[in-house]
Amino acid sequence: MNRLNALHAVRGSCRALMVPVLLLWAVAGLGQTPNRAAVASANPLASEAGIEVLEQGGNAFDAAIAVSAALGVVEPYGSGLGGGGFFLLHRASDGLEVFVDGRETAPGAAFADMYLDEAGDPVPGASRNGPLAAGIPGLPAALVHLAENYGRLPLADSLAPAIRYAEEGFPAYEELVRRLSRQARSLSEGARAVFAPGGEVPAAGELLRQPDLAATMRTLAREGRDGFYRGAVADTLVDGVQGGGGIWSAEDLLNYRVVEREPLTGRYHDVDITTAPPPSAGGVALINMFNMLSGYDLASADRVTRVHLLTEIMRRAFRDRGPYLGDPDFIDVPLDRLTHPYYAAGQRASLRIDRATPSDSLPGVQPAGSFGGPQTSHFSVLDRDGNMVAATQTINFGFGSGFMAPGTGVLLNNEMDDFSMKPGQPNGYQLLSAEANSIQPGKRMLSSMTPTILRTEDGVALLGSPGGSQIITIVFLASLAWVEGADAATMASNPRFHHQYFPDRLMFEPDAISAEEEEALRGLGHNLARSRQLRGNGNLQIVTWDRRSGEVDAASDPRVVGEPRFSSP
Ligand code: GLY
Repeated sequence: MNRLNALHAVRGSCRALMVPVLLLWAVAGLGQTPNRAAVASANPLASEAGIEVLEQGGNAFDAAIAVSAALGVVEPYGSGLGGGGFFLLHRASDGLEVFVDGRETAPGAAFADMYLDEAGDPVPGASRNGPLAAGIPGLPAALVHLAENYGRLPLADSLAPAIRYAEEGFPAYEELVRRLSRQARSLSEGARAVFAPGGEVPAAGELLRQPDLAATMRTLAREGRDGFYRGAVADTLVDGVQGGGGIWSAEDLLNYRVVEREPLTGRYHDVDITTAPPPSAGGVALINMFNMLSGYDLASADRVTRVHLLTEIMRRAFRDRGPYLGDPDFIDVPLDRLTHPYYAAGQRASLRIDRATPSDSLPGVQPAGSFGGPQTSHFSVLDRDGNMVAATQTINFGFGSGFMAPGTGVLLNNEMDDFSMKPGQPNGYQLLSAEANSIQPGKRMLSSMTPTILRTEDGVALLGSPGGSQIITIVFLASLAWVEGADAATMASNPRFHHQYFPDRLMFEPDAISAEEEEALRGLGHNLARSRQLRGNGNLQIVTWDRRSGEVDAASDPRVVGEPRFSSP
């Protein structure tokens, strides 16, 4: 295998050329327009909501509002109005690419040690359960922002399918029933009344109605931002949170702002990568991993060398998460360095092709890592004009904090757990913390959500996934599959493996690594762990567009719930 193909100079000039090339690509309209619109999401009803709005004359941005809000209704364990999200947009008319950051923020009364006891130890569950665990939601503001700045339809039209699902109900499905059976008891009284009325979890097929949530969405539809962040809904939210022991104030809601950020960009072979900037850690790691990979000839690697190499690359990318990454409005993130090809070359210098590098032998950084869950939700939308949205949204752990502010129908996030509680102390995802991601009033907590757009001269792929820190390696492996020619279904179904520096463990889905390969990888010094958890964690939602033929395809991860939908051609 070719160890170090020095591509640095080439990559440097590629970066400089990328912006004009992208613009040319977008404006010149090279190739065929999409032969149909597509939505891939974690729930068929949410995908249908997107298509419904497209067929009413909406664009991809209107459809994104519809899908996002519908997911909050029909997949209440994954995301919703009580949480936040990232929306990566591409506008076909002028090539604009923008990252709409609707991440939650810490309340004004939050402080660094708020989840520690007098001895300085984290209070078990304090950052995960109940309203004290909830950041100020960003999703409602993001939806209003999309409608006001990018959509074609009134917000009310785009929210209509979600309001209908909440008002009229939708049939409970196996996955929801399974999760409710496990978790309903730990939900707040108000949430239990909605999701387990009369103390009974609904059976599969039984209609689940959420009239309070429908009313809140109607107010949002009618009043826009003020419908959630000011007035009756805001007052009810603040009263509910404070009554339950939380620290939100009316000012926190009034002060919440969506931030538009420049997406991160990179290039691997002939593929331009557009992805999430901080406060996501995902895009930085994704670009860094592809930069490292650029120095190797992966095509000529045997399977064991390939897995070894990708594992070592994952290990090195994750090493940097703890010390360097946090909310860029609060700390200086060394983005240029972390995403620079020279930096990747330095990382490659320690990488041996014949030996795993123990994580604790990589110097100068604090360990960081997190395990994810199947919570959080990604969706991808492409419309007939070539507008695109890759969006990932969350309330963090399943059903978030479990707390529903009485009368609102809004299940609140427990995103405060994504902050660092205490240096060296793992959080609920086994995140070992760092100062860069400490709690401060108004600060956004670090995320792993990685909505991504890949593109060559001939094609496009929109993708993303839930899965905590595994989001990053799931998106990395799926992106690599696309680079290597895989279609949407193969990208979504490919078996996965994952390494995140700490713990020093190569996790893999049972069918990702054969027994012989496992033995060979152990021989290289890897600590392998077959993982069922890894199997359940991701939920890739992918849309692809072949620009030579105009053909549009889409796929949802076959491991979990989710189905794509298409407009008629
Ligand atoms: N709450 C999961 C994430 O933002 O990565």
